[in-house]
Amino acid sequence: MARVALVTGGTRGIGAAISLALQQAGRLVVASYAGNTAAAEAFHKQSGIEIVKFNAGNYEESLAAVGDIAARHGAIEILVNNAGITRDATLGKMTREMWDEVIDTNLGSCFNLCKATFDGMKAKKFGRIVNIGSINGQAGQAGQVNYSAAKAGMQGFTKALAREGARHGVTVNLLAPGYVDTDMVRAVPADVLEKIIATIPRGRLGKAEDIARGVVFLTADDADFITGSTLSINGGQHMY
Ligand code: CAA
Repeated sequence: MARVALVTGGTRGIGAAISLALQQAGRLVVASYAGNTAAAEAFHKQSGIEIVKFNAGNYEESLAAVGDIAARHGAIEILVNNAGITRDATLGKMTREMWDEVIDTNLGSCFNLCKATFDGMKAKKFGRIVNIGSINGQAGQAGQVNYSAAKAGMQGFTKALAREGARHGVTVNLLAPGYVDTDMVRAVPADVLEKIIATIPRGRLGKAEDIARGVVFLTADDADFITGSTLSINGGQHMY
């Protein structure tokens, strides 16, 4: 039977490419989304991938959604914590709300979904968790103390949970993308983005598929010895 995979934020951008790549790899994929219903339905129509709506930053909603998925398909064995938002501003202009929203959505979701799925993975003696970090959690980015802190937090979370999961066959890894051609990156002011692209040795933005192939690699059945690691896919922009 196909292993069940949940990709949060899995209907757009990097998440959509991850959902499609896991489907291609023979997984039974469920893609979650929080707000953009029209985009999620279009993605479902085009791919046939099941979509579920919940806010991954909300603990109760996450537990309920995972319970529903498990009741329909069996326990989730592959979890990709991809849901993420930006609320960019320099510290002086950043409000407490902008901080909370990004920490809750990007880092809090990681806790919520791992909490909801980890025991099931342990019981099956098999689990693959991939947390989608960022180059900006590794290197820092002006205008992103919230986002950089959340993504760096995901790195520590990954290493801690990797230690807990290892003896149970559950691997936990961080994939840190660089600047990828998505709506999120296109929201960066054009002149700023141009300067950022100039610092990428590969000379271009990443494609969502560049990231998805890393997730397929880390979630493979035979990727059993890869845990607690960080896979950077950033065109050489930051070598860590
Ligand atoms: N380094 C140092 N300081 C910087 C800076 C930088 N790269 N960019 C801006 N600043 C400073 C400016 O010098 C200025 O400082 P002073 O007031 O002391 O002169 C201050 O920040 C304000 O700068 P702006 O005039 O640009 O003001 P702004 O408020 O309009 O915009 C910004 C600031 C929000 C940081 C904007 O420049 C921006 O959006 N930058 C891009 C941030 C970014 O890369 N976000 C990534 C989004 S994609 C993503 O996150 C995905 C992923 O994982 C890679």
